[in-house]
Amino acid sequence: MTANPVSVNSNPCLISPEIGKSALAPAHPPLKLGVLASGSGSNFEVIAQAIQNQQLNAEIPVLIYNNPEAKAAVRAEKYGIPSILLNHRDCKSREELDTKIVKTFQEYDVEWVVMAGWMRIVTKVLFDAFPDRVINIHPSLLPSFPGIRAVEQALAAKVKITGCTVHIARLEVDSGPILMQAAVPVLPEDTAETLHARIQVQEHKIMLGAIALIAESNRKYCD
Ligand code: GRF
Repeated sequence: MTANPVSVNSNPCLISPEIGKSALAPAHPPLKLGVLASGSGSNFEVIAQAIQNQQLNAEIPVLIYNNPEAKAAVRAEKYGIPSILLNHRDCKSREELDTKIVKTFQEYDVEWVVMAGWMRIVTKVLFDAFPDRVINIHPSLLPSFPGIRAVEQALAAKVKITGCTVHIARLEVDSGPILMQAAVPVLPEDTAETLHARIQVQEHKIMLGAIALIAESNRKYCD
């Protein structure tokens, strides 16, 4: 799947209104997204907001979070979305956590999994249950700066441009086919915080753009 409808070079911020509209196909059931979030949940909220505004033909039957402090759970409440805490500290292995995640998502009939700031390494257990149906968002222009502290990595490398990526997730951390990217300039005075804040503005746009592409391709596939 490519991101042709959105030109990263000419305007990284542009999400074609046509994509959003064409994804709105009332004859087709909304795409059921299971969201995984560990922290603030701003990416989760833009999805929930876009669904509420009928900009995405999707629904979020459940949010799973692993950290009791995650603000994402508070945001879920605002949108009436059920949220379930699956604390990784209660699991003996990554596989055990992923088994619980899969069971929960299956109970809620989830079709696609969105890792929206999920700070856990996921295993084959999740990928086998949702083959090619797990997406991830990462605050760099992958394949540059995978892994943790991607924003700090970009600053340390003194790159002039970084950005963010939404991709289909594979077993290797932050790898897999790229759905959408946006470029963000690194300013001389940037700190990790200021740069991350600017990246997040673009993350919210490409997250919606990528889900719209998925909703659209799913619709075509069903036709
Ligand atoms: C984002 O920068 C995302 O790229 C990274 O974690 C952060 C999550 O932000 N994987 P939020 O919780 O959605 O605000």
